[in-house]
Amino acid sequence: MQFDVIRRMPLACLRWEQRLVSSPMDGKALSAAEVEGLRERAAAAAQNSYSPYSRFRVGAAVLLDNGEIVAGTNVENASYRLTSCAEQAAIAAAVTQFGPGIRIRAVSVANLNGAACMPCGACRQTIWEFADADVPVFYPAANGEMVATTVGELLPAGFRLCRE
Ligand code: THU
Repeated sequence: MQFDVIRRMPLACLRWEQRLVSSPMDGKALSAAEVEGLRERAAAAAQNSYSPYSRFRVGAAVLLDNGEIVAGTNVENASYRLTSCAEQAAIAAAVTQFGPGIRIRAVSVANLNGAACMPCGACRQTIWEFADADVPVFYPAANGEMVATTVGELLPAGFRLCRE
């Protein structure tokens, strides 16, 4: 199956099945099978969600430029604000496994609640730290379809530390 490049496409729900997911990092496109594999890794991680407070079971998977996929799930806390999101857990695990030089080639988010699940603002900034603006991000929309967008669409002016 062939897809179109998603770069510069509007945020409004693109069906990923109909798009070519092209990462500028190495020019290699993700196949539909790779995108689905990433989603499955995210959904599998959500099975381990620790979410007794929200009961919202989230998983995230990041494809790294070394070809490895690392997943994470949300871990809540009784003090609520100490909750870790699935995306942050996946990225922390990726750095733990592969070191500080990781670069992300694609991100997929899933949940077991059948709900929309776009990365929160903090997660967008966390992804931004390790991904170029046109790296694809997949998440479920409210209608159950997968949205295919990019890091730059989700976070147009991400923070970077600029010192003199
Ligand atoms: N959550 C994530 O894991 N990722 C997000 O990007 C948004 C929210 C989790 C945090 C919390 O455990 C639950 O979803 C409800 O907010």
